[in-house]
Amino acid sequence: MAFHRRAGNRFAGSIWPGFVDAITAMLMVMIFVLTIFMVVQFVLSETINDQDTELNALNARLNALSQALGLEQVRNSQLERRAATLGANLTAAEEEIAAQSLLIANLTAQAQAQTARIADFEAQVATLLAQNTELTEDRDAARAEIDRLLASGDLFRYTAPENAPVALLEREFAKLLGTKYALAVSSCSAALFLSLLGLGLKPGTKVLIPGFTFAAVPSAVIHANCRPVLVEVGQNYRIDLEDFAARLTDEVGAVIISHMRGHTSDMDAIMALCDAAGVPVVEDAAHSLGTLWNGRNIGTLGRVGCFSFQSYKLINSGEGGILVTDDADLVARAVIMSGAYEHNWACLLYTSDAADE
Ligand SMILES: Cc1ncc(COP(=O)(O)O)c(C=O)c1O
Repeated sequence: MAFHRRAGNRFAGSIWPGFVDAITAMLMVMIFVLTIFMVVQFVLSETINDQDTELNALNARLNALSQALGLEQVRNSQLERRAATLGANLTAAEEEIAAQSLLIANLTAQAQAQTARIADFEAQVATLLAQNTELTEDRDAARAEIDRLLASGDLFRYTAPENAPVALLEREFAKLLGTKYALAVSSCSAALFLSLLGLGLKPGTKVLIPGFTFAAVPSAVIHANCRPVLVEVGQNYRIDLEDFAARLTDEVGAVIISHMRGHTSDMDAIMALCDAAGVPVVEDAAHSLGTLWNGRNIGTLGRVGCFSFQSYKLINSGEGGILVTDDADLVARAVIMSGAYEHNWACLLYTSDAADE
């Protein structure tokens, strides 16, 4: 109002005062607008500042979260790696457990087998102990019987009408070898000599004997008034069959085969040749008791077999021998000439035949 009054005073009647008013009004509007703008700008900038702050806070949180996420991922990957390692360890441990279980199963089976074997051994030991007890009892009984016999002084067959100790031995021995007869004598030498006598050989008859034998063999032939003829023997202690066949002539009345140290000559070939020639075979089995030829007892293949019971032989009676045969005539002559049956010498027809010649 004051402005209008002053303008009314100085510029009355001109356009100037209106223009000034307009300018003033415009200025005032502009100031007002500017003020509004500044206020708005201030408000906006405040808002922006707030939002910036909020944004910064959010960014900071975001960063923190990213960092946390990163750490979490690192931890996750570490955990995954650990889990993988633990998984691998677990698999290895499971495999180890499976292998150990198999081992345990094997060991258990082995332990069971061993337990069964131990039980088996224990049963065998029990059987052996029982056998040992039986054998000890047998041995003690045998010792007692030996003592009784020695004390009696009656060891041979002179006084006993039957079942003399030596007669029991002959029966058992014949049974053992599977022959009909056995005659116990003072030595294997005597058995050989008696065998030749029992065969009824005429004086001077040739008897084939091995080149490798014991001195008692040619001696027995000489004692029987016969002539020993040596046959070649190989490095293996066996009769040379070619030489044997060549020497088995019509003059030969008997053959003695010595089974040296358990080495048996080819008895099939020898028996075939001798059977064909009708020549009896005497087996000198002095140290071959228990030896088999094709499942048959040595000493039972020929007409007669002779064994030794001398100290170094399989049965030791100090000195002693035995002959075995299925030939009743031969054993009868041998029994009579063995010295225990002097009163029967008269029956020996061949002796008188020999004396006649
Ligand atoms: C092959 C052979 N035959 C016969 C005998 C004679 O036996 P004894 O000693 O019983 O008369 C022996 C003795 O060692 C021998 O070795």
